[in-house]
Amino acid sequence: MKLVRCLVKAAALANVPKHIEHFSKFSPSPLSMKQFLDFGSINACERTSFVFLRQELPVRLSNIMKEISLLPDRLLATPSVQLIQSWYIQSLMEILEFLDKNPDDQSVLETFVEVLENIRNRHNEVVPTMAEGVIEYKDALGQQDAVTDHNIQYFLDRFYTSRISIRMLINQHTLVFSGNINPAHPNTIGCIDSVCDVTEVTRDAYESAKMLCEQYYLGAPELELREMNGETQAIEISYIPSHLYHMLFELFKNAMRATVETHESNRSLPPIKVMVALGGEDLSIKMSDRGGGVPFRKTERLFSYLYSTAPRPSYRIKHRAPLAGFGYGLPISRLYARYFQGDLQLYSMEGSGTDAIIHLKALSTDSVERLPVFNKSALRHYKLSLEADDWCIPSKEPLDLASYRAEK
Ligand SMILES: Nc1ncnc2c1ncn2[C@@H]1O[C@H](COP(=O)(O)OP(=O)(O)OP(=O)(O)O)[C@@H](O)[C@H]1O
Ligand SMILES: [Mg+2]
Repeated sequence: MKLVRCLVKAAALANVPKHIEHFSKFSPSPLSMKQFLDFGSINACERTSFVFLRQELPVRLSNIMKEISLLPDRLLATPSVQLIQSWYIQSLMEILEFLDKNPDDQSVLETFVEVLENIRNRHNEVVPTMAEGVIEYKDALGQQDAVTDHNIQYFLDRFYTSRISIRMLINQHTLVFSGNINPAHPNTIGCIDSVCDVTEVTRDAYESAKMLCEQYYLGAPELELREMNGETQAIEISYIPSHLYHMLFELFKNAMRATVETHESNRSLPPIKVMVALGGEDLSIKMSDRGGGVPFRKTERLFSYLYSTAPRPSYRIKHRAPLAGFGYGLPISRLYARYFQGDLQLYSMEGSGTDAIIHLKALSTDSVERLPVFNKSALRHYKLSLEADDWCIPSKEPLDLASYRAEK
């Protein structure tokens, strides 16, 4: 019996590349926040969601698996990336099992929810595992080159976005159809809050970051929060509170670290000022600190996965410095903002401080998933080779005009 099971599994594994090839030919279907909401409320039909997901999840998984396979050989060969690939293959195989199952069978729907929950748990550690892989690769490579950096940045942005989107689909299905309504948040559909109170989430994120900051530095800057809304009621949008919280928490941690470290010798710390503004199209949140800022030359690097000023942590070490880690705070937060067509930008003035701005869509019809698709344009990015710069590169050393004149 065991042998038969092993043989069946081996046969299924052998077919995986064929399935990846097949499903990666489809483009992912982006959903709007409005569609997520409508689907979860008026038309909540588990059968329809099941039929959609058993096609859409393999499409999203296969699209990104094609990109993983294009990574440099030495990165692909790292134990971390191998492990991640095995998780993706396993999850893809588990979903494919449902392709020929009957959607009208209640037990099939129930098993599907269990399988999705398992998949979500299996992929919990993908971000730090991939970060480890990239660090191993970078260390093995020794020197950095611009093309490799560009490719890894391009890949990780897409890979993590894909992961966010897959988790979003899984969360919506499992939460909406598990039958548990969150009594504290009756307006929540799955993980979306149709009246997400932006100020409340901001305060929550501030309090958590403050707690960490006080533990580590024995003090934390105050928060000054202002709302710009024309009307008097609270600013509310349809959004995923956990995504918003994630972005704000990361920004607060950075702002606090910079403020405390810049004003170490001062008796008082300048506050962190946050302004929330709602317009017809945008909901914007600006966080301003007086933490000394970052030189303009370095601002581009702040969103790089390959750069952090903090000491490098190991994800296996549980008790690490809490305010700075892998250097993933900003890049991942920007992905969350961009996932629903928003953005996150940083304007810094060295010698003074930093403004970080999150732009989100105010309307749920405008918040549409931004998803990577594996096609010829994506392929071209990975095939990019090192070419001569088409702008002059200033010499590091100034020209020695004295010797030039002597030669003449
Ligand atoms: N408000 C800020 N003021 C000054 N420097 C900042 C600010 N925000 C970010 N930085 C700089 O940008 C770098 C990258 O920030 P990011 O949040 O991505 O990573 P990190 O804080 O180093 O680690 P992690 O967020 O993963 O724990 C920081 O190390 C810091 O040097
Ligand atoms: Mg950070």
